[in-house]
Amino acid sequence: MKRRTFLSASLLSTLALTACVPSLKVKQRGPYEYEIRLQAANFELIPGRQTPGLGFNGEYPSPMIRAKQGQPVIIDVINELDEPTTIHWHGIRIDIAMDGVPFLSQKPIMPGEHFRYEFTPPDAGTFWYHPHMNSVVQLGKGLVGLLVVEEADNPHFSPDDYAADLPLMLKNWHLNEDGSFKPLSIPRYAARMGTPGNYETVNGMNRPTMTVPANAWVRLRFANVDNTLVYTLRVKDRPAYIVSIDANPLPEAKPLKHHSIGAGMRVDIAIKTPAAGEEVVIENGKGRLFFDFMRLRSEDRPLKKIAGSTVPMPPANPLSEPDLDKAEKQFFVFEWEGAVTPADRAGKGKHAFWTINRRAWEGMSPENIPEPLAKLELGKSYIFDLKNNTPHRHPIHIHGVMFKVIKSNKKKIEPFYTDTVLMEKNERVQIAFVADNPGRWMYHCHVIEHMKTGLMGYIEIA
Ligand code: C2O
Ligand code: CU
Ligand code: CU
Repeated sequence: MKRRTFLSASLLSTLALTACVPSLKVKQRGPYEYEIRLQAANFELIPGRQTPGLGFNGEYPSPMIRAKQGQPVIIDVINELDEPTTIHWHGIRIDIAMDGVPFLSQKPIMPGEHFRYEFTPPDAGTFWYHPHMNSVVQLGKGLVGLLVVEEADNPHFSPDDYAADLPLMLKNWHLNEDGSFKPLSIPRYAARMGTPGNYETVNGMNRPTMTVPANAWVRLRFANVDNTLVYTLRVKDRPAYIVSIDANPLPEAKPLKHHSIGAGMRVDIAIKTPAAGEEVVIENGKGRLFFDFMRLRSEDRPLKKIAGSTVPMPPANPLSEPDLDKAEKQFFVFEWEGAVTPADRAGKGKHAFWTINRRAWEGMSPENIPEPLAKLELGKSYIFDLKNNTPHRHPIHIHGVMFKVIKSNKKKIEPFYTDTVLMEKNERVQIAFVADNPGRWMYHCHVIEHMKTGLMGYIEIA
């Protein structure tokens, strides 16, 4: 199949080969220099059917960007769509000028224009990239890609400690049987859990089986690039371990029972694969039931290392530890408003269903940037007290920082770092972080329809 052919760059590793995600073609000038064109393109998602999507270099699964912790990356983004766009690097603690939010940090990239993104990722792990404009459509039709930052050289861990490393993009597409799109957003769903897609895919394939080396540790990088859904992952009848959450390694590997990732969230899971010919079944939970989601099939492959008994654990990312005693508290309440404002300035009906601290997102233009939800002092520690006063789940994301989830009124929390926290209905959580990255950082729900209908704002760190 054409869309699954691989680019033969020297940097191509088992990473791409085992998981059917093409690596992005590397430019001549350096190992981490890329060019991406945003294009309308046909994808074959349902076998034998064409879906008129939008793709990075016209491909789905999108080309994966590989970077290395502490090494500069250059990505030239060329907009060949017929609408403006920007690209955001989700989870990367980046300079504000490169964060890819229209008006807040850069001008939109107009059709035919290009923009050079340059940054040096301080953290290793599984990240992703996506536009931050017209997101229901641009993300919904396929502009979602993975950005994997390999760990910097260190004496304790090498990416090769895993015999295979599989990037896995999870997305439910809104498709009719003939491959055409169903509506990506329906207001009555936008006002509830969001409009779910019906065609479940992992790297663009429904219930795929992927081959992995037998008797070896493999790292599965699950990324929820869906606009709406939560995936609850479980490995059937086999030990598996959570290694990292949203790019951040846990202090030690945690046995996986099941783990939920909301839109935008990632989890890296380690498995020791069975003997050649055997399969591992990975399931997704819906309600109380679990269903077949994808499989791994072990095959004999020469291994560089004999797999040990302990899970290979990458080192922690260099994050500042918030000072909880001195931290200043800020309170945020997420609510359902259910109002339909009569018309926006263009005279079009506009929905505002959700609010943060009683404000729905006011929209933004070059002349009109709304007030921040909070002004934070550079270098200070903060505790954000988040209250979900709605009967729906919200994956709440903040740009520019990683935060530590420290408390919940619904479950016992072993503190962990993340960039997106999934709030259960009526849950109240506390997160803490050091405001160490100056800029105006988006703060929003990653259910794209929620964000578009109010659940969005920004914080200012100065
Ligand atoms: Cu994936 Cu504003 O973020
Ligand atoms: Cu982000
Ligand atoms: Cu939400």
